Amino acid sequence: MYDQSNENFDYLFKVVLIGDSAVGKSNLLSRFATNEFNIDNKPTLGVEFACRTIVAENKHIKVQIWDTAGQERYKAITTAYYRGAVGALLVYDITRMNSFENVSRWLEELRDHASPDLVVMLVGNKSDLKHLRSVKTETAKFFAERNRLQFIETSAMDNQNVENAFQNLINTIYQQLQKKSPESSQTPDIIKEGSMSVDYKLRGNHIDSPQKYKDNSDKCCL
Ligand code: GTP
Ligand code: MG
Repeated sequence: MYDQSNENFDYLFKVVLIGDSAVGKSNLLSRFATNEFNIDNKPTLGVEFACRTIVAENKHIKVQIWDTAGQERYKAITTAYYRGAVGALLVYDITRMNSFENVSRWLEELRDHASPDLVVMLVGNKSDLKHLRSVKTETAKFFAERNRLQFIETSAMDNQNVENAFQNLINTIYQQLQKKSPESSQTPDIIKEGSMSVDYKLRGNHIDSPQKYKDNSDKCCL
């Protein structure tokens, strides 16, 4: 289903991970990018990113995923972090009600810093910890519907729904892009003009590139 090569892709989509500290953002990323899980609680320092190319509707889409710490002290990086993003995974921990209550605050941050066209998927992570659940699935689903967010529950630990979370988000971004410029589907093998990702490709690497790269991602990203 996916292609790790650097060469051929039709689109480049930048996706950001946001949510409170320790909800599992970095593990969702490592599970998706390299199928790894880390049991240690190591807060992310600065910004990291990783890439993977997936196929949606017969197009090869390189997904560049940015990850940063959920802690307040990294607030200063937000503008650069969100620039050019076409999608976001807004993650909370199903065992920590507080991380769900803070989702509204993260939505405000998106409103202030990100494109209004950003596609947002609400992700309830740690679904393996059933006995510790404090956020009901129905409550989160209702919240997501009211705020026009996509919704899924995942476990980075058990590798439950991680693939679906990213794949569904990318499918929706792609469909949204097609609605805006349907004629672009006739022009394969280029990064389509008009995509917000193009904007990042031209400028991001020089001005706003992440400060720290994952070892395995320097080849696949821009
Ligand atoms: P910051 O970088 O501080 O913002 O945290 P983060 O959101 O990136 O969280 P991280 O991925 O570092 O995970 C925090 C802790 O939760 C680690 O100890 C992980 O092993 C654990 N964790 C992450 N995902 C899961 C999951 O799906 N299930 C369980 N049981 N633990 C998880
Ligand atoms: Mg992290």
